[in-house]
Amino acid sequence: EDTGILLAVETSCDETSVALVRGGTEILSNLVSSQIETHRQFGGVVPEIASRKHVETITLMMEAALRESRVAPRDLSAVAVTQGPGLVGALLVGVVAAKSFAMALDLPLIGTHHIAGHIYANALIGEIVYPSIALVVSGGHTELVLLEREGVFRIIGRTRDDAVGEAYDKVARALQFPYPGGPHIDRLAHEATEVNELPRAWLEPDSYDFSFSGLKSAVLSAINQSKMKGEPPVRPSIARGFQESVIDVLATKAVRAVREFGAKQLLLCGGVAANRGLRETLTARCGEQGIPLLIPPNALCTDNAAMIGAAAHLKWTRQQFSPLDMKADPALSL
Ligand code: KG4
Ligand code: ZN
Repeated sequence: EDTGILLAVETSCDETSVALVRGGTEILSNLVSSQIETHRQFGGVVPEIASRKHVETITLMMEAALRESRVAPRDLSAVAVTQGPGLVGALLVGVVAAKSFAMALDLPLIGTHHIAGHIYANALIGEIVYPSIALVVSGGHTELVLLEREGVFRIIGRTRDDAVGEAYDKVARALQFPYPGGPHIDRLAHEATEVNELPRAWLEPDSYDFSFSGLKSAVLSAINQSKMKGEPPVRPSIARGFQESVIDVLATKAVRAVREFGAKQLLLCGGVAANRGLRETLTARCGEQGIPLLIPPNALCTDNAAMIGAAAHLKWTRQQFSPLDMKADPALSL
């Protein structure tokens, strides 16, 4: 039986990644080259620089991933690539590289949605059963997605302002941590001995949407108040209050969605899924309620090409290929 080996490419933001994935579940190689060191001095990702770095790195990464996997190009079944959403210039580099490779080797091309990739990272660690609810939390996304069937997505809630990771990074910046600040806030929150209680934005009672900008403003004003009073740093208690507020809302809505839609499972994914507090709270609440929970290891939560190979495999089995004139789409919908 031909399970299919896909070469997958991901360049939607500041990671250049190439992977080889067999059967949508088995990683043969998954190489990630991060540009974080380059962007850190600017306090965030600079799109022009991201594109240029992708150009410099992509061919080397494709060669290295093939070498590491020991797969001969003639044994590949298709080339998968993130078509969107993301930074348009960054996406374009991956799309052009994938097209060229597909054309040269006469392989089918499979354009893939970045969020479908984050969700199907879970297929690399366990079995996805349907219907399923995915909580997607990253620097650019905060979504609750209902997976009705394999490859059929319905967004039931999303952020109305900042993405979770974005809120983390802005709060971290106000507390003078370098970019990306999420992991620093996570660590600080765990060190806290007190909690500076902050508001939770539940929105309308039946809504699965999120809002983090009010919370972010509350954090910034709490920081300013203590500065003005010349008080000692209250960083840990504020970080803890912020983190508890974010996690309580995310976990409560995710669990409610599982119940309402009769989901058999909760999938956590995206860069913020690396958050210790979020993992602990979801593990505890799902445990109490008997909800099976999948959380990929950190390396598969942050941007990587293996997740794109996993999501693209569904399309490969159905022969849903993309034309060679496929365009990168920064606003691609799920
Ligand atoms: O998925 P990802 O690698 O890139 C995007 O597609 O956005 O997510 C990166 C985001 C950043 O905002 C980063 O601060 C956040 O994930 N992040 C965290 C943690 N680790 C990474 N946020 C909170 N706690 C963490 N431990
Ligand atoms: Zn991402």
